[in-house]
Amino acid sequence: MVHGMSGIRRLDPILIDQIAAGEVIERPAAAVKELIENAVDARASSISVVIEQGGRGLIRVSDDGIGMSASDLRLAVERHATSKLPTDDLTRIATLGFRGEALPSIGAVSRLTITSRTQQDDVGTELRVDAGRIDGVRPAPMVRGTRVEVRDLFYATPARLKFLKGDRAEAQAVAQAMKRLAMAQPAVRFSLTGDGVSSIDLSAGTADEAGQLARLGQILGRDFRDNAVRILSARGPLAISGFASLPTYNRATPQEQYLFVNGRPVRDKLLLGAVRGAYHDMIASDRHPVIALFVEMDPADVDVNVHPAKAEVRFREPAAVRSLMVGALREALTMAGHRASTTLRADMLDSFTGNMTAPGAAYQRPSYLPRSPGTNGAMRGWAQPHGFGESAQAQFEGAERPAAPVMPQSETASTAHPLGAARAQLHGTYVLAETSDGFVLVDQHAAHERLVYERLKRQRAEAGVSRQILLIPEIVELSADDIASLLDHAAALTDLGLVVEPFGPGAVAIREVPASMVASGTGALVRDLAETLGSLGGPVMLEAAADLVLKTIACHHSVRAGRALKPDEMNALLREMEATPGAGQCNHGRPTYVELKLKDVERLFGRR
Ligand SMILES: Nc1ncnc2c1ncn2[C@@H]1O[C@H](COP(=O)(O)OP(=O)(O)OP(=O)(O)O)[C@@H](O)[C@H]1O
Ligand SMILES: [Mg+2]
Repeated sequence: MVHGMSGIRRLDPILIDQIAAGEVIERPAAAVKELIENAVDARASSISVVIEQGGRGLIRVSDDGIGMSASDLRLAVERHATSKLPTDDLTRIATLGFRGEALPSIGAVSRLTITSRTQQDDVGTELRVDAGRIDGVRPAPMVRGTRVEVRDLFYATPARLKFLKGDRAEAQAVAQAMKRLAMAQPAVRFSLTGDGVSSIDLSAGTADEAGQLARLGQILGRDFRDNAVRILSARGPLAISGFASLPTYNRATPQEQYLFVNGRPVRDKLLLGAVRGAYHDMIASDRHPVIALFVEMDPADVDVNVHPAKAEVRFREPAAVRSLMVGALREALTMAGHRASTTLRADMLDSFTGNMTAPGAAYQRPSYLPRSPGTNGAMRGWAQPHGFGESAQAQFEGAERPAAPVMPQSETASTAHPLGAARAQLHGTYVLAETSDGFVLVDQHAAHERLVYERLKRQRAEAGVSRQILLIPEIVELSADDIASLLDHAAALTDLGLVVEPFGPGAVAIREVPASMVASGTGALVRDLAETLGSLGGPVMLEAAADLVLKTIACHHSVRAGRALKPDEMNALLREMEATPGAGQCNHGRPTYVELKLKDVERLFGRR
């Protein structure tokens, strides 16, 4: 019998380094992350990165931090050599690095050149490592700080090269890694240039709240900055700060939810769960807010040494962290209340104005306008832009005409209210209100739905929903599946005022309904409920089911789009919205109203 193995032997130290490097440095972005972290730990105030071929050809990270002496530089590329554990205490890690393996790992698989100089030294030192072998140390001119140059990453481990993506994708990953670290360091300037990425230049700001928001705006966009609420909460040594987007500003994936623990970017399911919990009744379940949360805690309460790339941590008391997160988010969102609705987004405004101010072109005739008057039906669009033609105008002057926009002239409504005074109903769907410095357009159905939902929720929390017994139970025919879904959740339904019982093989009987509910149309509601509950696919928590039920009831019992509202009704709707926290977005996370400030209108017309 032939043995493939001829006994145990000790591996060559360089091979050991290459194996270890596989865990720490799996792609160029990982090397960039380690080098930036080193620069941050060295208290740099400016960090610049240059890459070629997605980082495969070249990574150069320059910083103006404390630098290294010649003897430290030699140690820096040795495995398990670090300046960051002065007391050998793994429970008090305050730096991003602590293992002393990033530089040796990178050096093991590339051609590495480090040039560094401290404040005390007159001249710098340059050290070269080639595939793990130190290849010379010599004095070199250098300003204070460190420059690390990595060429031909993974040339010494060709197998790894095969797993890399295209240059562009690798470059994007590098940019992502830099942005994540930059979010936590608003006082440090970051720049990235190279082929395959658009350059990034994040100027340094202050280390306070304003600086943090400015930095997040640089990275996540101005719209995020304008739609974010401040998060701030503490319990003992545990503190949470940061910014979270209003429910109306959301994304299709939770990718833009960032968590930092003591300044370290980490991935943790805890955040996902906390965000779900905090936003659950404000946002559709397939939409996700944008969030950057910074947790500060006693280093002894979190283990950072659980992941090769230090991208995960383990909390000693995850439940405490989670509950503080949910509480902080909830509180901020409730306080934001009305802001939840958007002032018209900057880019929307720009798209309006873009047409008119395209460079090089004089006024461009919008395509919806007819070429010459009177040629076709589109002419109506010109004569009555947005429906404010003659007949609508007549309404403003008080002419009588049924089924057209209603003009409230109520004395009680004042433009001083946050949502102003109702002036018209448009298309039977939108309420137009005038505020002291602009105007507001309310989606009547979405707004009312939210109000009903909030009212039911309040009732339920306070005294339980009061029920009303139907004199004659309503019988609703349903499929066996739908009946099963309903009866599975009978307890939640009863809790919400809806008492449903089986009634023969293909039907249920509704015996009691919430007192606030109009008795008719219960059948349609119950059918919808069965479908929604069925879509949950199996038993769910009472709370989640109850929430769905409330939303469905709210949807069935709010004014439809298309129903004409009287002036008093419109104003009552506006006042109730103002008084209801969370009324700024509908139950699906869309805004219930938009506001246009006069100054924005002036911009639209080129008056500013
Ligand atoms: N840009 C830099 N400026 C100053 N000193 C640096 C810099 N980069 C590395 N060093 C020094 O070199 C040492 C080794 O760096 P390396 O990244 O390999 O390990 P580490 O940061 O200590 O731990 P980790 O492996 O977790 O990153 C550091 O402890 C630090 O003293
Ligand atoms: Mg390091």
